[in-house]
Amino acid sequence: MSKLSVEHLLGIKHLQKEDLELIFSTADNFKQVINRPIKKVPSLRDITIANLFFENSTRTKLSFELAEKRLSADIINFSSANSSVKKGETLIDTVNNILSMKVDMVVMRHPNPGAAEFLSKHVDAKIVNAGDGAHEHPTQALLDAFSIREKYGDVNGKNVVIVGDILHSRVALSNIFCLQKLGANVKVCGPLTLIPKHIKTLGVEVVTNLKEALKWCDVAMMLRIQLERQDMKFFPSLREYSMLYGLDKQLLDSLDKQITVMHPGPINRGVEITSDVADSKQSIILNQVENGVAVRMAVLYLLAGKKE
Ligand code: CP
Repeated sequence: MSKLSVEHLLGIKHLQKEDLELIFSTADNFKQVINRPIKKVPSLRDITIANLFFENSTRTKLSFELAEKRLSADIINFSSANSSVKKGETLIDTVNNILSMKVDMVVMRHPNPGAAEFLSKHVDAKIVNAGDGAHEHPTQALLDAFSIREKYGDVNGKNVVIVGDILHSRVALSNIFCLQKLGANVKVCGPLTLIPKHIKTLGVEVVTNLKEALKWCDVAMMLRIQLERQDMKFFPSLREYSMLYGLDKQLLDSLDKQITVMHPGPINRGVEITSDVADSKQSIILNQVENGVAVRMAVLYLLAGKKE
């Protein structure tokens, strides 16, 4: 397979296993490129990409921007905070105005689930979903799976537990789709109030005891409590959450094996993960960030329809 089966990257749900493998093999090549003294290739020299961020971001925004620059694309950046969206302009009008400046691809983060899919049906450009509300964050899941593959050689057969606020997490849903397509076994762990009721229909087992989940897994993916998406209390206090679902060094060292610790960021140190775990040898958090650039280069390159 040398071409993706999709026109846009809206979610992992729409991808086939072969798409994932193609993205990873392409990212392998780009990872070599970004570790060379000259980190740039001319692959997207004739492509213009608009990065539209209607919601805050550090990692994803910078990672896409760097990936685009490494591929020699022309880029424009838009953030809703200082834009005419505040004056009542619709999403389609905003994007069509940007596209009339001859833009080929749009990378968009938006607080509303389905925003990227909606856009793909109404504008003439390739759309990359950089996170749509609590729905999907496909490039995060791709870089996470790529990092597990890099660590273990294969994702197939690995036991991965996703811990924390599953209910409000686009990272969790995209990772469940991605890891299962690649043959991993996935469990979720957290207070039942933060686990969606439909989760078992996705073939995911729920564990409420963190130590039990950690004993089972090869990889623990720790998630942040998304207070910005919570309009009511889902647990008594952050202190109690940390006591039951926070990963600290004592708990990590009490296991009879060396598991791998991941986190998509941003980290709330001392809540879901302590500093000595986040900064430990078992953590691959910064490898995830590094791999994000190579994986996003692969996604943009493949969607642009370029041949290697
Ligand atoms: N992991 C992630 O999406 O981080 P940002 O919100 O900083 O982009």
